[in-house]
Amino acid sequence: MQLTWLGHSCVLLTGSKKVLIDPFINSGSVAGTDPDIVAVTHGHADHLGEAVALNRKTVAITEIARYLKAKGLPAESMNIGGTIVVDGVSFTMTAAMHSSSIEEAGPGYSAGSPAGFVIGMDGVKIYHAGDTALFSDMKLIGDLYHPDIALLPIGGRFTMGTAEAMMAANFIGAKTVIPIHYNTWERIAADPVPFKKAIERTTDIKVQILKPGESIQTGS
Ligand code: NI
Ligand code: MN
Repeated sequence: MQLTWLGHSCVLLTGSKKVLIDPFINSGSVAGTDPDIVAVTHGHADHLGEAVALNRKTVAITEIARYLKAKGLPAESMNIGGTIVVDGVSFTMTAAMHSSSIEEAGPGYSAGSPAGFVIGMDGVKIYHAGDTALFSDMKLIGDLYHPDIALLPIGGRFTMGTAEAMMAANFIGAKTVIPIHYNTWERIAADPVPFKKAIERTTDIKVQILKPGESIQTGS
């Protein structure tokens, strides 16, 4: 499987299927990624992003799925704690400590609760934390699902910063951590290098700092 960080929280997994998580980038469009499946962690515009325009099979919490269905999308609804398999790709929805809303004029839609995902494809498990504070049940995500890679927000202000993400990485225990949700804007500026050095000095976890658009290969 190939994992590409497109920027902010947007990650493309390319294996037997193409899965696009949180289809928002700060400039340009993710339309060219041509995903089979889109997964949305919560309703904020920097995560829901281009989900409606992409018009693909979209995995989201019940309330966001209802919104997407109203827009004509083939949405797959689920909720925190559940697992579904879509076209051979497994999606487990995990808790996130954050807020959620759909920012759109007109009749309001509830966005439900914010979430994260553990996504399993081609024998590799990826944990995308969504937007979240540190919470100790991340230990359960590690113990139950044993993700190979954890995508963790480090930008602070709206999510964990690097100090909290260090503890999150320890709780989750994935061999590889990739920082996300930072340096998109000044208000979530963060330096991933001291974060990487501190984790790699004190644990066996590797921190992979990617540039927007950069990929890594993982698994077979
Ligand atoms: Ni958010
Ligand atoms: Mn966000």
